[in-house]
Amino acid sequence: MFLMKKEIKITIEQNYFDILQTFKSNNDIKSNSTAIEKILFDHYSNKSKKAFEYFTINNRRYLGSKTKILNFIQTSIDKHIPKYNSFLDIFSGTGVVANHFNNKNTKIITNDMLFSNYVIHYAFFSDDIYDKNKISELLEYFNNITPIDNYFSKNFGDKYFSLNVAKKIGTIREEIENLKSQLTKKEKYILISSLIYAIDKIANTCGHYDAFRRNSLMPDNFKMKHLDIDNSNNTGNIILNNDANKIISEIEPVDILYLDPPYNSRQYISAYHLIENLAQWNKPEVEGVASKMLNRKDYNSRYCLKKAIEAFEDLIIKAKAKYIILSYSDMANKGNERSNARMSDEEIIRVLENKGTLFIESIKHKPFSTGKTKLDTHNERLFICKTH
Ligand SMILES: C[S@@+](CC[C@H](N)C(=O)[O-])C[C@H]1O[C@@H](n2cnc3c(N)ncnc32)[C@H](O)[C@@H]1O
Repeated sequence: MFLMKKEIKITIEQNYFDILQTFKSNNDIKSNSTAIEKILFDHYSNKSKKAFEYFTINNRRYLGSKTKILNFIQTSIDKHIPKYNSFLDIFSGTGVVANHFNNKNTKIITNDMLFSNYVIHYAFFSDDIYDKNKISELLEYFNNITPIDNYFSKNFGDKYFSLNVAKKIGTIREEIENLKSQLTKKEKYILISSLIYAIDKIANTCGHYDAFRRNSLMPDNFKMKHLDIDNSNNTGNIILNNDANKIISEIEPVDILYLDPPYNSRQYISAYHLIENLAQWNKPEVEGVASKMLNRKDYNSRYCLKKAIEAFEDLIIKAKAKYIILSYSDMANKGNERSNARMSDEEIIRVLENKGTLFIESIKHKPFSTGKTKLDTHNERLFICKTH
């Protein structure tokens, strides 16, 4: 953010052309508009203007996102896997890993238990055609919608968002539902995804929805944008929404099966209840100060429990892949009880060595801990198994 003399605030997220318009329509500084235009141009010239017009898939805060180690994953794969044409990301989360490997020569299959992640994967990765002009018109309409009281503002207003913003979010989500007969599945999911990305930028949280910050100043607006979708890479992709262990047997054999399960006891449905609630839009009862959905236990993951290794072994036995790659941190017994890894290295190695030949690659990575525990050594590891 930088401040001009006239106290016009510009955030880094703002659209370049919107900012220019703001300056140009301000009479007091009109005379300086050429100079200002140059400042703005210089400010953004090193970044793609596209980034201010579109949400890219990694523009989301998400626990365990692999955005920062994509290069490490790529170089490890280059080292051990000479050729591959299919990539199954069965705990996809944000989808950034699947996105990295999605190209004309590699078919991707994504899966996540959370419906909100499925919606985002479908929007980015399905090869359904969609009407971009229709999306532009609807984004314009939603960005200028008149908010009214609704389920979302009643439960989340003045908590994670200001009351006004919560009203706008719920009004837009309801309107997407009202318009569904005029939208294809991909168009509907693009709009819901855009709403999720837009509100994630201004949520009054530290990136998840276990709690909100009290007494903080909350932004009073947000902006939905297009998603940066490249459908030319999407031919034949498959997008799934299920428990990995339940569908693994039904998925066709793949070259690479990439596994990035939760590491610790923190359930994703609990951390992202608000996003899931907004995506599903079944308007369930919520409980407690954090306003979490009552039915969220149905989405609990076995990988967050002490017996995670049993789920992992079952998955590996059933997997049909030439290579299996597991991402797993080395935080076992280093953090607090909640952030401790659920599977030990010995257990992982035993299960994977039964399936094939094992290689381990490792890189230092910024640690994640939910508490005040300070962790200075944390390695993100890839267990790469060439199956028998
Ligand atoms: C560590 S995150 C994956 C992060 C992802 N690789 C990324 O870069 O964004 C784990 C994901 O697994 C999902 N998950 C947990 N248990 C699952 C299960 N049994 N089947 C499918 N998905 C599951 C969670 O919802 C979460 O999105």
